[in-house]
Amino acid sequence: MIGRLFGLDPAPAVGCRVLELGCGDGANVLSMAQTLPGASFVGVDASAAAIGRGAELAAAAGLPNVELRVAQLEALPEDLGEFDYIVSHGVYSWVSPRARGALLECARERLRGEGIAYVSYNAYPGCHLRDMTREILRYHVREVADPQERLHRAQQLMQTIVAIEEPSVYARALREQMERMLSYSDGLLFHDDLAEISTPFYFHEFVEHADAHGLRFLSEAELSDSRMEGVPASAGELFASVADDPLAREQYMDFFKNRTFRRTLLCREGVRVRRALEDVQLEGFAISSAAKPSEEDREGDVETFVTPEGHSVATSQPLVLAALRALAEAWPGALEFPELLERSLSATDTPSEPAAVSLRRVLLEAYVARVVDLHATPPPVSARAGERPCASPLARAQCAAGLPAVSSLLHVNAQLEGDLEPRLLVLLDGTRDVEALARELSCTEQQAEEALARLASLGLLQA
Ligand SMILES: C[S@@+](CC[C@H](N)C(=O)[O-])C[C@H]1O[C@@H](n2cnc3c(N)ncnc32)[C@H](O)[C@@H]1O
Repeated sequence: MIGRLFGLDPAPAVGCRVLELGCGDGANVLSMAQTLPGASFVGVDASAAAIGRGAELAAAAGLPNVELRVAQLEALPEDLGEFDYIVSHGVYSWVSPRARGALLECARERLRGEGIAYVSYNAYPGCHLRDMTREILRYHVREVADPQERLHRAQQLMQTIVAIEEPSVYARALREQMERMLSYSDGLLFHDDLAEISTPFYFHEFVEHADAHGLRFLSEAELSDSRMEGVPASAGELFASVADDPLAREQYMDFFKNRTFRRTLLCREGVRVRRALEDVQLEGFAISSAAKPSEEDREGDVETFVTPEGHSVATSQPLVLAALRALAEAWPGALEFPELLERSLSATDTPSEPAAVSLRRVLLEAYVARVVDLHATPPPVSARAGERPCASPLARAQCAAGLPAVSSLLHVNAQLEGDLEPRLLVLLDGTRDVEALARELSCTEQQAEEALARLASLGLLQA
């Protein structure tokens, strides 16, 4: 979708080929494979145990379009083939320089024409503070081999340091870092701050490395990360001076925002990138939004729509209000732009041509502000439970395996609540109506319907 926004012609997701390098247990490829049965996915990881877990889940979910292979980045199999999309998340900063080079080399060799690679990594300047605390913790646990004990000792030291009262800049910075890490899960702390290798990069260093492998910066995967929000107005002149240099703009942005992490999209050298987002047409895209009107923020004609993550947009324009209401009603489903335009027009008396221009502009702004999502391929999700509701086989298999979260059809992890939701989810194979579900679950039909409505809102019910 971002490739298309930037004027590329990448392969449509429905029939594309995707490679994930360092895929762990394949959670990401499996989740994509369930919604794109015509596309094919290859995941590669050095850990045989992780690949084994993923392969078991793929078999249980009946996903024939996923292949998971055990291999080192430095010695990838010759027969991998070519791909439209190559993904590597949480790997680049955590492997040796040789493996980092191999990762980019693989993208150079195996990415098709206007294909896109995604690489995430820890970033400077934000990680300078993280480096400091990481070094303190790693010193403290230097002689401890047992992973549980390393975690325990590190957490003990963090608790001690958090209590520091000295009002110096050093103490404040240290305390903030320790508080951040104390909020982490054990897994994240162990694999990130306590990891043997954790090498952050300045954006310009990463871009130079990619460049040496014939790859060019396309965009950040999350466009909102490149917004000027948080950059002081006094920096206007500085940013105006680098207006024609997107790489310098991104780098200066990191200095102002104290960036710690990046998710960067790359394309092959020679591919033409058009960065004028204002010219983008939305015909051909579907739009969705989890934003709901907030009664407490209502002021006169101005209504505020807020997403569960707290991103918001406030407007009194009848056309935009009508569009946001139509999207709220359709959630988690998406509406094609012409349909959304038509629904919005029927609720207002705006002439259609200026309305299309204005709605397009507002939706793009709302997308960058993370209030709406744009989809080149809408998710195959149902907003409501049908007569015999069906959840994706992958979510059912994950639930049956007792995993703490399941993959939704919106490609996010969904957290099931209570005792009823997991028991209900595993029964949703499309053979039972509400009456049968309530009977098997020993609950009332109303309870089953309420739980179904919540599963639908999480994007777990198939269209
Ligand atoms: C932090 S995990 C990220 C897993 C997955 N991409 C995710 O986002 O959940 C890093 C993964 O890289 C794999 N890895 C580390 N070094 C590797 C190498 N040299 N070759 C292949 N895989 C490697 C690890 O086994 C691990 O599964």
